[in-house]
Amino acid sequence: MNFKEKLRDNQELVNQEINKYIKKENLPEITLNEAIEYSLMSSAKRLRPTLIIETYKLFKNDYEKCLPFAVSMEMTHTFSLIHDDLPGIDNDDYRRGRLTIHKMYNEATAILAGDSLMNNSYRIIANEINNSENIDQMKKKIRVLNEFSCAIDEMIIGEYLDTECEGKEISKEKLDYIHNKKTASFFKYCVRTGAILAEASEEDIDNLTLYAEKIGLEFQIKDDILSEIGDSKIMGKPVGNDKAMNKITYVTKFGVEKAQEYLEKTTNEALRTLETYGNKAEFLKELAIYIKDRNH
Ligand code: IPE
Ligand code: IPE
Ligand code: MG
Ligand code: MG
Repeated sequence: MNFKEKLRDNQELVNQEINKYIKKENLPEITLNEAIEYSLMSSAKRLRPTLIIETYKLFKNDYEKCLPFAVSMEMTHTFSLIHDDLPGIDNDDYRRGRLTIHKMYNEATAILAGDSLMNNSYRIIANEINNSENIDQMKKKIRVLNEFSCAIDEMIIGEYLDTECEGKEISKEKLDYIHNKKTASFFKYCVRTGAILAEASEEDIDNLTLYAEKIGLEFQIKDDILSEIGDSKIMGKPVGNDKAMNKITYVTKFGVEKAQEYLEKTTNEALRTLETYGNKAEFLKELAIYIKDRNH
């Protein structure tokens, strides 16, 4: 299996699906819809929806069934980034290779486009619940809805603490706590959703949650390293912004070398959680390695 090709296929699949939800009618609010399209249809990695799809595929083949959940996740992730970039939070001018939405349009548009994306991500799940074929399926989707709401709550807590702790000395435990809430919560939701919808056992759901917790942490440590030594042209977002904002990250607290060691350790822990799945989990293994080695 070629991991890069498979990732690209997933990205294309997710892009096609998202496109179905873009509103193109010539209505008075057309600029809001254009702003939503501008932020959604950009050069994003689509890792979270890919995680839903690939976890689903560990247990079942008819992955089309989880695509609305994949779109819903990417909408909410995009909302979280739009608000994260606002002047009141990280005050960043570039995202996904272009001007942030508050720079391209204005702050009101950015706030409301974010609100709209989050609202629509819930609407997609509600619609899926309505279209359930039987009570059992409906119950699974309601469970997913509940987990979705919890994951967003965790992301908000993480974002809050991230801003509250700017310029302060905090323990490694608290930093782990913040990263877990801010970033790993969505990764956990994604694997759990893929597994729940594909009727995986509770044991598998728990085991994969551990994997997701590790790659979520890994993802944020790498993001912190790239914020220090990455190439802003490749990443499509600024470098040096964590330092400028006095953010407490693994890099600003321990330095790049220590952060890199922690990254390697966390990646190995993620890989160990997949040992019981053998070749079936090849993509998820490669994904953990990709997250560690990526340059954007
Ligand atoms: C960036 O996420 C936000 C973090 C949690 C660090 P991604 O790096 O997955 O962003 P996109 O979706 O590819 O732009
Ligand atoms: C953003 O975190 C993660 C969210 C939960 C929104 P960061 O602020 O660390 O990520 P970037 O570097 O702006 O993508
Ligand atoms: Mg931030
Ligand atoms: Mg940010």
